Amino acid sequence: MSQPTGFVQDKVVLVTGAGGGIGRDFALALAREGAKVVVNDLGASVQGEGRDTARAQAVVDEIRAAGGQAVANGDSVSDWDGANRMVNLAVETFGRIDAVINNAGILRDRFFFNMSPDEWRSVIDVHLNGAFYVSRAAASHFKEQQSGAYIHMVSTSGLIGNFGQANYSAAKLGIAALSKSIAMDMAKFKVRSNCISPFAWSRMINSIPTDTDEQRDRVARLQKMETAKIAPLAVFLASDAAADVTGQIFAVRANEIFLMSQSRPLRSLHTEQGWTPQSVADRVVPALRPSFYKLDRSQDVFDWDPV
Ligand code: NAI
Repeated sequence: MSQPTGFVQDKVVLVTGAGGGIGRDFALALAREGAKVVVNDLGASVQGEGRDTARAQAVVDEIRAAGGQAVANGDSVSDWDGANRMVNLAVETFGRIDAVINNAGILRDRFFFNMSPDEWRSVIDVHLNGAFYVSRAAASHFKEQQSGAYIHMVSTSGLIGNFGQANYSAAKLGIAALSKSIAMDMAKFKVRSNCISPFAWSRMINSIPTDTDEQRDRVARLQKMETAKIAPLAVFLASDAAADVTGQIFAVRANEIFLMSQSRPLRSLHTEQGWTPQSVADRVVPALRPSFYKLDRSQDVFDWDPV
């Protein structure tokens, strides 16, 4: 680990879902680099059940033991009042808020044709609604102080695709659009908003079976994607060094950092007479078909081992 350089000295940063996994490493790295951290975590299971505020407190204890400053909050991001309480805790405890990292998350995977409204709603609530609530709660402070940084965790399940994750994919792609909208609406207040799509060996993905040699090899490769490897980019994005970086979607996988594309027209055709269904079939589709996207999953696109 490199020596801390005070990269975010005295910045006040709220990290949601920071009681474990990627969020815990964000909180530890931020504190090491001089930030004062609000460690939020409901302490839920991967499916979003249960509550254990001891998890957030344990991270706070770890930060304090290392000489850093942190405070714990056990509210749910999917509760508007809770989102306001965690932002207010930052302001009451440390006098301001400089950055918000929307990291809290749950999974309720199910093939679309079997997904229940409750499975849909709970995932949208934590990810998409939670990202809105916490971001919106901080927005008034950011606007008033004419500065602020948002970092939202998205996923290649949404940006590219994956089986059995309609709720999660829709929420994550929604967050990418939310981030872009915040970046545009708040640029005049010098507020920035960016996304990180992480790949990391956390409890969220560690249920992969290890019964065969092949599975054990795969898991050994995946374990290289340490949660702590996501933190340097997040710390950078929360810092003043990123003053001109906004509206972007990055991905991080072990030692690789990617800039992800954003949707733009690929090809076009036009006709002065307008189109009929038949002329669409006869002319448009044959012309565009070579550029059609395959039904790729994330792992079809990221098809090489983590570096
Ligand atoms: P994790 O399950 O270890 O951490 C998520 C944390 O969020 C947990 O500590 C949980 O208690 C907390 N949480 C859940 N619901 C909450 C709520 N309503 N309010 C406050 N806290 C809540 O998972 P991991 O892997 O660290 O994920 C962090 C973020 O990164 C998530 O947004 C996830 O969707 C995203 N992500 C992770 C990937 C990976 O490879 N691990 C891949 C793509 C995205």
